[in-house]
Amino acid sequence: MGRVLVLYDSRTGNTEKMALLVAEGARRVEGMEIRIKRVEEATKEDVLWCEGMAVGTPTNMGIVSWKLKRFFDDVMGELWGQIDGKIGCAFSSSGGWGGGSEVACLSVLYMLINYGFLVFGLTDYTDRKFTLHYGAVVAGEPRSEEEREACLRLGKRLAQFVAALYDGRKELLESIRSFPGKFPW
Ligand SMILES: Cc1cc2nc3c(=O)[nH]c(=O)nc-3n(C[C@H](O)[C@H](O)[C@H](O)COP(=O)(O)O)c2cc1C
Repeated sequence: MGRVLVLYDSRTGNTEKMALLVAEGARRVEGMEIRIKRVEEATKEDVLWCEGMAVGTPTNMGIVSWKLKRFFDDVMGELWGQIDGKIGCAFSSSGGWGGGSEVACLSVLYMLINYGFLVFGLTDYTDRKFTLHYGAVVAGEPRSEEEREACLRLGKRLAQFVAALYDGRKELLESIRSFPGKFPW
């Protein structure tokens, strides 16, 4: 049984809505156990418990929120060197397109890499001109089909990687390599 933690910060609820969709996506892989935690209530035990962690941040000044940065500094700090090899990914809600949400995702991925996580993005397009190469990004709350699908797909992919790496379900890797033979834009 794989274990996925969806950890997020959210001041006005937009990133939280993304987090719920990411968790729903992870549940689509059979046998996954999911925890969803706001950053204020998450503990280092949650991080130790999980095999895969999706981290959601509001885009703040183009980067990660201070609460998540503090969590990585102060709460996870003690775990440095003990959590290498877990799988990580990022998602972010911003005020507007072009407001820095991909940079915010990258700032999360940087922190995860520093802890030895294996991090990933998706080559998938969830609609014409809409993708999640650095993690799922949305302006405001996820409303449209392609925005919701990006969050769902991020969670599902995380769970697939957890199942493949930690439960030996390597057949799941085949289904993620679905390049249609022509570029989708
Ligand atoms: C302190 C602060 C900094 C922000 N910085 C940015 C920013 O750099 N770019 C942007 O597009 N939106 C920015 N925003 C807007 C939020 O990213 C946006 O409202 C987001 O949807 C909030 O997510 P939440 O509802 O999960 O808190 C900022 C908001 C706050 C409070």
